[in-house]
This record gives sequence, C-alpha cells and structure tokens, in this order.
Amino acid sequence: MNVQWFPGHMHLTRKAIAERIKTIDVVIEMVDARLPASSANPMLRELLAHKPSLKVLNKADLADPARTQQWLAWYEQHLATKAVAMDSHHSAPAQALIEACQALAPGRGAMDKPMRVLICGIPNVGKSTLINTMVGKRAAKAANEPGVTRREQRFALQDGFYLFDTPGVLWPRIIVAQSGYNLAAAGSIGRNAFDDELVALELLAYLQKHYAAHVLARYAVLDGDGPAEQAALAQMPDFELFERIAYKRGALLPGGRINAQKAAELILHDFRSGALGRLTLETPAEFEAWLATGERLDAERQLRKEQYEQQRQAKKRPKKR
Ligand code: G4P
Repeated sequence: MNVQWFPGHMHLTRKAIAERIKTIDVVIEMVDARLPASSANPMLRELLAHKPSLKVLNKADLADPARTQQWLAWYEQHLATKAVAMDSHHSAPAQALIEACQALAPGRGAMDKPMRVLICGIPNVGKSTLINTMVGKRAAKAANEPGVTRREQRFALQDGFYLFDTPGVLWPRIIVAQSGYNLAAAGSIGRNAFDDELVALELLAYLQKHYAAHVLARYAVLDGDGPAEQAALAQMPDFELFERIAYKRGALLPGGRINAQKAAELILHDFRSGALGRLTLETPAEFEAWLATGERLDAERQLRKEQYEQQRQAKKRPKKR
C-alpha cells in the first residue's frame, strides 16, 4: 500500500524527544488497543531505554477484551514493560495512571522534586483526550484529523506533577504491509495516504476469518449467523462480501451499480465507531509472523539494492587495456 512517509519530520521529532527525555521521570507510551504493535513507533524503545515507562493500550473500549489481555501479558513477559488498558475519556483509569507513575518514580512529585511525565504516541491515539481527562479540563486540543502538527505543551496536573505532550509528530513506522492497512482502518493515518476501498477490503478479509459473527450480526449478509453461516462467511471472497454489504446498506449508484466509495466509508466508519463490535486487528503471534516476513523482504530488498549498486559501479569503472 502506498502510504505517505515523512522521514524529515521524524528526524526532528526524534531529536526533540531525545532532548525532552533528559528531564523526564516517567514516559507513558500510548498505543491503540485495536492494533497495539502497528500503532507503536519502534524508535521509542531505543529512546526510552533506562527510563521508567508505562504502556497504555488506549481505546480499549473499542478493542476485543480477550485480545487486550493477551497483549498486556505479552508486554509484561516479552518487553518487561508495565502495561495497562484504558478508555482515556474516563477519569478513574486516568487517576490510576498517576499512581502508576508514582510507583515507577518514587520520590518524585513534590514541589522541590517535581514529577515530569511525557505522553508519547502517534497522532489520533488519544493523547489530548488523556491529558484533558487527567488535568480535568479541556487543556489540550483534541484534533480529529491525524497528522496535525502541534507544539510541545506542558500541563500542571497538581503541585509538583507535570504532563508533557509529545514534542513534534510521532509517525508510526510501517514495517509490514498489514500495519499500514490496520493504521488506515483505525483512522490513524491521513485520509489522502490510502485508498478507502482497498483498506475496507483488507479489513473485511481479516474480520471474515476472525470475527465472522460480528460481521453477520451487523450486515445480515447470510440467512442466519450460526456456525454454518460463519464458516460460509469465512470462505466468501472479500469482494463478494463487500458487494453484498453495499447492496444491503443501499450504497448504490443510479442504475443499481454499487457505490464502492460509499460502501468502503460505511464499513470503515462501522469499525472506527465500534458499531461492528469490539475488535482487535492483530494478536502478538500474528504480528511476530508479519514482522518476520517484513524483515525478510526488507533484507532481500537491501541485498538487491547492494547488488544493483555493485553492478553500476562495475559499469562505471574504466576498462583496462
Ligand atoms: P491525539 O491527541 O493523540 O492526536 O488524539 P486525540 O486525543 O485527539 O483523540 C483522537 C480521537 O480519538 C478523538 O475522537 C477522541 O475522542 C478519540 N479517543 C481518544 N481516546 C479514546 C478512547 O479511549 N476511546 C475511544 N473510543 N475514543 C477515544 P474524535 O472523533 O476525533 O474527536 P471527539 O469528537 O471525540 O473529541
């Protein structure tokens, strides 16, 4: 998938975060609970080494609770990182974050030794919402379009406790194709960077296999939603399912052909709003497999590039007489 990518901006953000980190006591890294690995930026791991940090799987109200538990266990086992799931609109879990920060950096949080917490995460993951909930007023502006550049902001939570928003824009790093589709489905990358129909088809292909009951309950594309229908749905070509949904939901052009753009938008809207149910688009095991494939393809590409360079250099060399 063709996704816009801004390495120049990332370089600046990296520098800004590295600078800010020096005076930070705890880092809260927010990811989207529906796509925890795809919505993370691996660069942060290296920047945050040796800093107490807390992973927040946000928008857990939209994610599959069983899979969220799998991810929480995976973070604690594989990355030795404390992880919590939350809906950042609610103040009780936000309050619990304050206690978690205090546990990670005991001794900080007084006037003479303030607690400084950096909230990191890709656009649209819920940073402003969490800050607003923690500060208790509309302090940070929630932008509804991903990719809006914001300056670093500092918020006083209480005496001796400060929150800092990510300096610069932390783009996701799209290592594997599936991450690009998942980020697009969740609305985490700018609309101009992807094709709605392709993203909706990829989303359906995944949901058919893993959440057939949810798809049948929402769109009633088969007569019934029992095990036999779920098995039939899993076998259906994704474009056939897409077409059936378009007909069922009246996404049609004059003359009766399907309006693919409208159908794609309504499927993506249903996923993003939670109308399709609580869904998670990746498990730790799936992501590990995608990553292995992505890294192998990357290594092969690198090898081809090096071979090409060598051939080019060989052609340039003057022939010996
Ligand atoms: P950002 O600062 O990281 O860019 O994200 P921001 O807080 O602006 O949140 C992006 C969108 O995600 C907002 O929706 C926000 O309400 C929603 N959101 C944030 N946290 C959660 C959560 O835990 N659960 C759910 N379901 N949604 C969450 P919006 O439609 O863009 O704006 P709004 O009209 O809701 O304010």
